[in-house]
Amino acid sequence: MHTQYEKTSLTKKEVATFGGYIDWNTQPSIFKQYPSFLFSYSFGEIEEFHFLELSRMITSKEQILTKLYYKLSTPSAGNLHPLELYIQVRGIKGVISGIYHVDAKMSKFVLLQEIEEDGLEGELGLSCKFEGIIAIVSCVPFRSEWKYGVRALRYCYLDAGHQIAAIQASATIYQKEMTILSEFDVKSFNFAIGLKDEETVCAVISFAKETEKKVKPLKKPLLHVSPTDYSDSNGDLFEVLQKQPVLKSEIFPINTTKEQILQRRSARKFENVPFKNGEIERIMHTLTKDVYPLVCYSILFGDEKNEAGIYLNSKLLQKGEYKDRLAGILVDQLFIKNAQMIVVVTSKHFSAEKLMLAGALVHKIALESSEFKSTGIGAFYDKKLQDFLGTENYILYVCALGK
Ligand SMILES: Cc1cc2nc3c(=O)[nH]c(=O)nc-3n(C[C@H](O)[C@H](O)[C@H](O)COP(=O)(O)O)c2cc1C
Repeated sequence: MHTQYEKTSLTKKEVATFGGYIDWNTQPSIFKQYPSFLFSYSFGEIEEFHFLELSRMITSKEQILTKLYYKLSTPSAGNLHPLELYIQVRGIKGVISGIYHVDAKMSKFVLLQEIEEDGLEGELGLSCKFEGIIAIVSCVPFRSEWKYGVRALRYCYLDAGHQIAAIQASATIYQKEMTILSEFDVKSFNFAIGLKDEETVCAVISFAKETEKKVKPLKKPLLHVSPTDYSDSNGDLFEVLQKQPVLKSEIFPINTTKEQILQRRSARKFENVPFKNGEIERIMHTLTKDVYPLVCYSILFGDEKNEAGIYLNSKLLQKGEYKDRLAGILVDQLFIKNAQMIVVVTSKHFSAEKLMLAGALVHKIALESSEFKSTGIGAFYDKKLQDFLGTENYILYVCALGK
């Protein structure tokens, strides 16, 4: 996958080619819609589904010219949302057992196929029925590729990391235990759930209990619906994504509140106000403790209590004022100069898994405090940022934090 790092790296030339005018009228649809004749439950109707609604719902709607601009409870590079969410439900009282699409736009769970003796367990390498909910996250690369070209590979997985963390955060609030399922063949699983060459699964999360009852393979694959209204992708990016293993590791625990999830927004500007006493130490502690295999650098812009410079695991590596240089490396995103702290998430290896973990970690940082604002930053000159930090680690993601 490291050749993909080179291929998807940003350079000045790359930005000059891709950073030009974009016609938003040609944006592919960001919500998949199954036919309206299918049975559905509305958000709010089924108590057992509340935690999933919270993890993927519209939290802001704005009319911009002729277009409605939606924002969700999860962030997304360019607000393009190249993801979908499905669930298998079994043995929940008063709920039809089956496989559902989580339709965030229409705020409903659309029943794609009922299950009884059969189910997705077999496709997931399991021989017995799982009672409860199994959630499936998929990537729709064209939604992001449309704007970002090959760089979209990274954004799909970073977005997926945010989505998985959003599920984890609301599951914790609703006291549900989750397990990652990863021992299965991606291609045949895609086929079973009706995904063709525009969408591929990247994570499966179980909130279900294994029973002793044997399960049969799904009676027939789920119906296929295209996840976008059109595509003119050459399919190369999809091919790369489909070859990546799904998420294997558990993600970081997240302690937050329902209000914090509903109010989450990416910061668009910062006021140059220092953090409260102890806040920077708390964040650095989060970035150091149990984040393996990620390695986090922090760049502080300095205040009365904290010296400006580059830190690694809470240790000052190099003193200095780096606002201007860093804003340049982050593709001239000048608003970061009023932030208090820039976090750079890196790892020794580059993979879909590490990108998802990086997205999840940045989501955790955003949800665990109401004291500051933050935003994920996916646009940076990779090589320049590596040189700036003096590391050969792969740069996965950046996060700006401020008031
Ligand atoms: C992977 C990823 C990369 C992002 N990169 C940038 C970036 O480089 N600059 C920026 O200002 N915002 C960036 N964002 C923030 C998005 O623009 C923001 O999530 C989106 O507009 C939706 O707004 P919301 O997060 O408030 O819902 C990024 C978000 C994600 C998830």
